[in-house]
Amino acid sequence: MRNVWIIEEQGFDREKIEDNGNKFLLGNGYMGIRGTLGEFGKEQLVAVNLAGIYDQVGDGWREPLNAPNPLYTVLIVDGEKYSILKKEPIAHKLSLNDRQAVLSRETTWEGSKGQIRLCSERFLNMENPHLIYERYEVICDFAGNVTVQTGIDADVWDIYGPHFVNFDYSGEEILSVKASIQENRESVWVFENIEVENKEFLVDCGVEQRDKTVLHHFSYRVQPGENVSFVKQCAVYTTKDREALDGCLAIQIDTIFEQDLLGSYERLKQEHIAWWEEKWKTSEVWIEGDEEAMKALNYSLYHLHSIAPRHSESLSIAARGLSGQTYKGAVFWDTEMFILDFFLYTEPSVAKTLLRYRIDTLEGAKEKAQGYGYDGAFYAWESQEGGYDACSDYNVTDVFTGRPMRTFFKDKQIHISAAIVHGIMRYVNVTGDRSILEEGGIETIVECAIFYYGLLLKKVSGDRYELHDVIGPDEYHERVSNNGYTNRMAKYTFESASMLLSTLAEYPEEIRQRIEKQYAVEELKERFADAAEHIYIPEPDSDGVIDQFDGYRTLEDVSLEEVRSRLLHEKEYWGGAYGVASHTQIIKQADVVTWLTLFADEFSKEILTKNWEYYEPRTEHGSSLSACMYAWLACICGFPDKAYPFFLKSATADLKGGGKQWAGLVYIGGSHPAASGGAYMNAIHGFAGVSFQDGRILVNPKLPSNWKKMRFTLIYQGKKYRIEINGKDASVTEL
Ligand code: BGC
Repeated sequence: MRNVWIIEEQGFDREKIEDNGNKFLLGNGYMGIRGTLGEFGKEQLVAVNLAGIYDQVGDGWREPLNAPNPLYTVLIVDGEKYSILKKEPIAHKLSLNDRQAVLSRETTWEGSKGQIRLCSERFLNMENPHLIYERYEVICDFAGNVTVQTGIDADVWDIYGPHFVNFDYSGEEILSVKASIQENRESVWVFENIEVENKEFLVDCGVEQRDKTVLHHFSYRVQPGENVSFVKQCAVYTTKDREALDGCLAIQIDTIFEQDLLGSYERLKQEHIAWWEEKWKTSEVWIEGDEEAMKALNYSLYHLHSIAPRHSESLSIAARGLSGQTYKGAVFWDTEMFILDFFLYTEPSVAKTLLRYRIDTLEGAKEKAQGYGYDGAFYAWESQEGGYDACSDYNVTDVFTGRPMRTFFKDKQIHISAAIVHGIMRYVNVTGDRSILEEGGIETIVECAIFYYGLLLKKVSGDRYELHDVIGPDEYHERVSNNGYTNRMAKYTFESASMLLSTLAEYPEEIRQRIEKQYAVEELKERFADAAEHIYIPEPDSDGVIDQFDGYRTLEDVSLEEVRSRLLHEKEYWGGAYGVASHTQIIKQADVVTWLTLFADEFSKEILTKNWEYYEPRTEHGSSLSACMYAWLACICGFPDKAYPFFLKSATADLKGGGKQWAGLVYIGGSHPAASGGAYMNAIHGFAGVSFQDGRILVNPKLPSNWKKMRFTLIYQGKKYRIEINGKDASVTEL
């Protein structure tokens, strides 16, 4: 059997630099380091992307920071620079062991006197998330002069930068760069320390600060086969890491760094591998009969582990994880609806951290609602710290005129608030832990319900409530009425809020009092119950199909190919006022299908199947969130083989790369955590058919025909279970 835990790329292809940055990403929740090479700079999209710290320059979009890169390394042999960008290698391999989270590189060049081989490997510390380690080795098969320049490159890749204004370089034994940002007084510090082996070959060494770099240089005189090697340890801090810093925000870096780095490197690496082994014990999904799927799925889980904010108690995951500044490093509904399940079942404490971020940004959501003249909580479509909505009124640039296009994602994608309610309720139901409700979850849900209540419309002659002027998950059709997904999620919010207010007696006295002090509980209970009962939920037509929104099926019914052929520019935006899809039934991503998947037990198999069949050919899958919902619903309908290609599309989103990089003229490349989380949900809920009823785990497998067996672990209501599936049989064993 091949090693399913090795992700490898042989040879060097310039065209793949961007995708490989995502594919070979290392991360530890605090930072993500793109899978780039030592000699790369900002043109190759090098990034040490930081979680939860943002900056805005002028009118540009506010985005997270990329720290100065402490892994910058240049190799010079006999006066000639050996960079893969300048000199074609005779062999090159980039390889990620995604079970161990170690990235290695091996490159061989043919020089004028013989061969030069460079090997390096790097990993991030998972327990102290500030730390990075790298080992580097050069061997020549001839006698020559080898110089290595290595240190910190502060000329970082920014989309809407430059963010750093003042740089403070220092270089003695430990190099450091302190850079402060434009918007406020926050700063980023990067440190680098190095220990070289074989000091006896060293002829010269020193430190040099040039442009925006501060570098050590080491020059050696080597004989054939003698190696030049060193280990680097680097650290990244920001002024937001107040607890890690002392009162005057200084860092005693020598107390943090290893003293005997060369001697400790192997131990540190083994500890790192052991940390990951421990994680895989509860999260690995084993599949017999389909190595490709097993590899892709666990690789997706590797990505989710790498971006989990374990260092914080209140932080979420950005739509592009820690792969860069794309999508403004903002948190979308992706987290609660696509990513959350993986953590709920394998590491509930992370799930709680993600949700606590929403509870802690409730004030931001209330402010946003007030800004539109509404009560309650309208969560940010693109949430940054404090719940600030980074989504701009003009979120797409028109490719023809270069002018910003008015989009309504921020104003009209009201389904975001319900996603948060859904996430909190799932946390409570799956973990059995109600502390989140007591710690602000009740208020969050009630405020979301208040928000939707204020938006309900009732016609003078009618007796039902409607929601008008919204955008559903399919963003191509803006400002529509009665989007089924949105209405059903609003109903879910009313149901949840009304249930919570009706069961307040079950909570400690002080919680009850806190809620009663803030809300007219009886009145709200009645309102929400009434709203839940009377909100209009679109029904299937005589042919079984449900209109995605009022009038959807009066739009031009035309094939995806036809709509694609109408594009005048490859980067043209399909939606909005003039988009090629806007007046047609072509949709961006699963919409009705997402609704039917989440509430499948409210429909017959026949209706579910009819809607899948109607919508799938009309879906562009222009978002990486789409395929997994189609896969999941196909499983529910009993067609796992039909689900399979959609599952694989989600699981390989970052492995294969090549996803959409542009929305109009806005760069949207990066990794795809929602697709990774979606692939996990497909495996667990779809193929394995896991569901929960009355505190019990039910397993109703629907494996694709090439899958023989499946095995995984789930944490449910505080207990750990091993699920084993053999064809149609399943067993659940408490561990
Ligand atoms: C999708 C949204 C998603 C966002 C971030 C957009 O392209 O339409 O549903 O939340 O990307 O992933």
